[in-house]
Amino acid sequence: MKKIALTATAAVAALALGLTGCSSERGGTGGAAPGESEAPAGFEEGARIGVALPDKTSENWVLAGDLFTQGLEDAGFQADVQYAPASNTVAEQANQIQAMVTSGAKVIVIGAKDGKQLATQVEAARDAGAYVIAYDRLIENTEAVDYYVAFDNFKVGQLQGEALLEGLEKNAGHEAPYNIELFSGSPDDANSAVFFNGAMDVLQPKIDDGTLVVGSGQTEIGQTATQGWLAENAQERMDGILTSTYSDKELDGVLSPNDTLARAILTSVEQAGKKQPVVTGQDSEVESVKWIMEDKQYSTINKDTALLVDQTIKMIGQLQKGEEVDVNDTEQYDNGVKVVPAYLLDPVIVTKENAEEAYANVPSLLEIVQSY
Ligand code: BGC
Repeated sequence: MKKIALTATAAVAALALGLTGCSSERGGTGGAAPGESEAPAGFEEGARIGVALPDKTSENWVLAGDLFTQGLEDAGFQADVQYAPASNTVAEQANQIQAMVTSGAKVIVIGAKDGKQLATQVEAARDAGAYVIAYDRLIENTEAVDYYVAFDNFKVGQLQGEALLEGLEKNAGHEAPYNIELFSGSPDDANSAVFFNGAMDVLQPKIDDGTLVVGSGQTEIGQTATQGWLAENAQERMDGILTSTYSDKELDGVLSPNDTLARAILTSVEQAGKKQPVVTGQDSEVESVKWIMEDKQYSTINKDTALLVDQTIKMIGQLQKGEEVDVNDTEQYDNGVKVVPAYLLDPVIVTKENAEEAYANVPSLLEIVQSY
């Protein structure tokens, strides 16, 4: 029922644009889903490429915008890179994507603010003959997303879980059981559950055997969520848990899904005058890399944004030439109506111990590490 309604909306949008029928330009038959068996149709050199990024909730998004603008221009395309503003983000991003479709973009790369709310826009893109690449975050519940490009999100979570266990063994200052708390990302971001499930794949058996104790008892993703990936929301939740649960015991470790939230959690604990716990992170944000070198934050993940943007631009080049598009995963990312063919890059765990090696190809971070 829902699917029929969405398809009808897309058809209306295509009619309004006077573009009905253009979908056949993409693959010859107009019927087969792109990214499946048929080769992409190709389009003119120098075409316009839209890049719709979410609000700047972490440094990787800021960097991605600059790298896309430069990289697409270097590859001979016309780049139209836009961020969703911090307020009214979902609706504004939808408008930006719709405008990219109208302006004739041949590929639209989307870092979704809310991956469940873009079906109408990506279906309009497809009907106008454009390809849609979900960047970093999956777009859900629609056939019209052609490819997904991201770091392996489940592996990110597993690496975080492993780092938390390793950090506890090294730094908790006592044997198990260890008291921990769990945080996850924003519920409107499809990555949040994947990160959390990856981490729980490692942590759940240790909770079950008593090695880890979640003091607050909050182990369901709904209880651990951080709306909007906002630091203040994580800090507030940590403040509340410290008051309710840790007045008479120590907190040994915290699973944090990214660096922004890790620093908020550490700030909360510090302000409460408690012992510093082992805290994980993700993104290799400058401030967190410093905190790792200063033994304040235990770990982060290196997801080199330059590599992810390069891979995306490579896929756009393949689409332009009508070549087969590189994918290395055709199983993991079921968006609710189809398995989206994906290219997944390998995330790298970073602690103080391997930081120099991990950032060997990231000069700005290497410089920070070497300054300690
Ligand atoms: C990204 C993370 C980032 C988070 C908040 C996620 O979708 O994969 O790298 O920390 O969004 O911006």
